[in-house]
Amino acid sequence: KNIVVLISGNGSNLQAIIDACQANTIKNANVVAVLSNKADAYGLERAKNAGVQAINLMVADYENRDAYDKAMIEQIDLFKPDLVILAGYMRILSDEFVRHFQGKLINIHPSLLPKYQGLHTHQRALDAGDEEHGTSVHFVTEELDGGPVILQAKVPIFAEDTIEDITARVQLQEHRIYPLVTNWFLQQRLSMENDQAVLDGHVL
Ligand code: GRF
Repeated sequence: KNIVVLISGNGSNLQAIIDACQANTIKNANVVAVLSNKADAYGLERAKNAGVQAINLMVADYENRDAYDKAMIEQIDLFKPDLVILAGYMRILSDEFVRHFQGKLINIHPSLLPKYQGLHTHQRALDAGDEEHGTSVHFVTEELDGGPVILQAKVPIFAEDTIEDITARVQLQEHRIYPLVTNWFLQQRLSMENDQAVLDGHVL
């Protein structure tokens, strides 16, 4: 099975998925390409270190979002992906892109969706005095951060926590649940039907 991962930054979730493929906890699958919109994304180094093709598509080289996303579609299709994973990809995707990969496009968002769509989720949870926070893996639909949730992990927020503490606690959980969901999908246990996530025949 072929996995393509889109990143913009550090790529710790990418690393977790590469590691899980190597350990065969994601069974019979490989990350075959990593695409980034940022030339300096550390995740591109992680890809190269793992012998995975690392591709930087420069936003400045394209006239607009549609042209950029069309180029991405072409690149990604060359790898015949079974699953396209957004892992800290920080650019809004065109509707055409989302439709093209609909049903095999997943994202991880660092909040307990539907709470805190958008940016700065950890800071917002901290500022709100939340005692509970977390992360969500979801199918991507044309509604930003709005597709059906597949799996969430909750973490506590303690009174003395800094933003770094919360970020680290959430990321630890991301590195567990993203490979898990990836494996479910590639084992064909998971799908999106009528805008709902379905696992082993059950609507989630
Ligand atoms: C993760 O926290 C993810 O939830 C969010 O962006 C972050 C990416 O981290 N979408 P990394 O690049 O995988 O380390």
